[in-house]
Amino acid sequence: MVSQIEKRKKDHLELCAKKDVSFHKKTTLLEEVELSYKALPELSMSEIDLSTTFLGKKFSFPFLVSAITGGAQVSKKVNLEIASACQEIGIGMGLGSMRAMIQQPSLMETYFVRDVAPDIFLTGNIGAAQLKQFTPDTVNEALDAIEADALAIHVNAAQEAVQPEGDVDFSGVISKIAEYSDKIKVPVYVKEVGHGISFEVAQALKETNIQAIDVQGAGGTSWTAVDALRHKKGFGLIFRDFGIPTAVSLIETKSALVGTNKKIIASGGIRTGIDAVKALVLGADLVGCALPILQAQQTKGIKGIKEYLLGFKKEMQITSFLIGCKDINEIHSEKALLLGKLKEWVKEE
Ligand SMILES: Cc1cc2nc3c(=O)[nH]c(=O)nc-3n(C[C@H](O)[C@H](O)[C@H](O)COP(=O)(O)O)c2cc1C
Repeated sequence: MVSQIEKRKKDHLELCAKKDVSFHKKTTLLEEVELSYKALPELSMSEIDLSTTFLGKKFSFPFLVSAITGGAQVSKKVNLEIASACQEIGIGMGLGSMRAMIQQPSLMETYFVRDVAPDIFLTGNIGAAQLKQFTPDTVNEALDAIEADALAIHVNAAQEAVQPEGDVDFSGVISKIAEYSDKIKVPVYVKEVGHGISFEVAQALKETNIQAIDVQGAGGTSWTAVDALRHKKGFGLIFRDFGIPTAVSLIETKSALVGTNKKIIASGGIRTGIDAVKALVLGADLVGCALPILQAQQTKGIKGIKEYLLGFKKEMQITSFLIGCKDINEIHSEKALLLGKLKEWVKEE
């Protein structure tokens, strides 16, 4: 029998692969970030090395495929193909929410990718609103079973509020995140799902032992749109454009985390290597993206994912060359010019 969660996972994959699930009126505002072009970069493109280390694991370039799936039979192929491409290229991967496998352990095989990806940085995933239903011990067992290197806790009030069967009790969630960040055996980080983390939320999370925040801002996939499309009459579509643009969320999170060792992942609508380098200049340690990876997998399997990722890496190398930076340390010391709406938004805060 197909459970409600399994059905939802299938709906999410189908809607994201086939329907318009993007923001309509809001962008990431990364187009309002200008990098400083150097006509004389004083380096050879062949010297550029974008490799990095994140939470103890090596990446050939700073890219983490954001959480996509797990828990439906169709998830298995998607996860195995993404994982194989990540292993070959040397980057990280997020698995979808483990709620389904915790409730129905036979679904564990739809998440398990270590056979094809023994070395990648791999993250398990659970919803913040569901933390009260489980114990840290149960989540530790699930993480052990899939051999994850970290746990991503997704915070998604906007999505749950629009989802037909959403869990809208977010009371006490910050203290639950704090408890899990102490009791989970692998590093814990917090991610949104595409509506952004504000300064205040990042500041509250700063007090916990989480090791990173993945901002997942507005401008890419709108999860209020995805779940509104699951209502018969599209109830909730007015919330399609709700949220904080990725560039704003990144700047606010960076400023809230000053003075800590916590890392930042920039994601939500990151679509090109130029977006990615801009995000690194603004202070991100890694970038992430979900929808284009799923679309590449659905159309051309492992080959499509690899083509997308290698093209993205090349775009990052060219952008780094054009601003005269040979590695991530140099990119981090670059300055960006903020224009228009982004400048206004950041000044207002
Ligand atoms: C089909 C699909 C399923 C997703 N499922 C999850 C999930 O289980 N847990 C989670 O934290 N995020 C999930 N996400 C959200 C992504 O990780 C990401 O936060 C969001 O799509 C914004 O990134 P994008 O604009 O690059 O797509 C899913 C995304 C897609 C496309």
